[in-house]
Amino acid sequence: MNFRLQSTDPRSAARTGILSTGHGDIPTPVFMPVGTRASVKSVEPHELLEQEAHIILTNTYHLYLKPGNHIIRKAGGVHPFMDWHGPLLTDSGGYQVYSLSELRRISEEGVTFKSHLDGSMLQFTPENVVDTQRIIGSDIMMPLDECPSSKADREYIRKSGELTIRWAERARRHFSATAPLYHHPQMLFGITQGGTHSDLRALSAKALVDLDFDGYATGGMAVGEPAEEMYRILELSHTLLPEHKPRYLMGVGTPENILNAIERGIDMFDCVIPTREGRNGRVYTRKGKMNLRSAKYAEDFSPVDEGFGNHVCKHYSRAYIRHLLNVGEILGLKLCTLQNISFFMWLTRTARQRIEEGSFLEWKAGFLEEFNRGEA
Ligand code: GUN
Repeated sequence: MNFRLQSTDPRSAARTGILSTGHGDIPTPVFMPVGTRASVKSVEPHELLEQEAHIILTNTYHLYLKPGNHIIRKAGGVHPFMDWHGPLLTDSGGYQVYSLSELRRISEEGVTFKSHLDGSMLQFTPENVVDTQRIIGSDIMMPLDECPSSKADREYIRKSGELTIRWAERARRHFSATAPLYHHPQMLFGITQGGTHSDLRALSAKALVDLDFDGYATGGMAVGEPAEEMYRILELSHTLLPEHKPRYLMGVGTPENILNAIERGIDMFDCVIPTREGRNGRVYTRKGKMNLRSAKYAEDFSPVDEGFGNHVCKHYSRAYIRHLLNVGEILGLKLCTLQNISFFMWLTRTARQRIEEGSFLEWKAGFLEEFNRGEA
């Protein structure tokens, strides 16, 4: 058993647990910083650990394109290649089916992409995506899926969801027929699709549960649907997915989305928000988001978040970081990124503590009140 539930909130579906991998244990709920191309942009692995990150995410599509399987195999996998020795999850390329929709064709066999780098054609199948993730050596692999747009009609989402189930069966079979290339075990999660249609989601979840994956992701969310629709799907998923397996909400989200999803039984999250917004000078604090590029911080020598206690807040002022951003010093972007990663790690860590203490719902309400009242 890779996942051990530790406590459950009697007043909501929130829970805490430990997910064990060959590169260490992950306390859940957990946020996973995104390092698409084997780098969490501007941040070194030791700095990730200092922000209390437990697991990071990279992307099979991007790594397959560059540096390519040959080089990753020669490096002995992504862990030694990037010198990250903690748990690693790889997304499958299924999200690129959505985000690169102009550059791909879907068939029963798989997805043919026209490389966004040089226009060459590449075919991704459920089987070769597992093979590439064996070469990457991720602790948690994701199967090839199709993430449809929320604008797709019901018939499209139904057919696409059925194809994703057939791909999941093929991925599961190939996973069982192959072995890890390095000296650590690997897990394979299933990804449910079905948009916001309850019956299609239920079909998808039931089919995947029958295939007995190591964990279950909810995909196809945060693609333009209202947040309330996503919460409704999470409530439904909670009744369908096995209690003793980890649950991962892909590509989500804002602090508010994350806490509302934890309340509905989600254990794992990933999102580019902290890293992408950090590179735009937007930082997260307990009192809301701030745009540190603003001239109003030019003479503000207080820390980004007084008393937060992380590296950035202990060492630097708003005025200094604003100056770095203002003159285009790359350190400014890096400090904003570090602040945001440590904030998102604090968020899921604190949710975990509060679930264990039995005060999650009160803490969540108070936190969101203060966060949403703050600077925007
Ligand atoms: N990231 C965010 N949403 C999705 C999804 O539906 N599928 C995959 N593979 N990755 C995602």
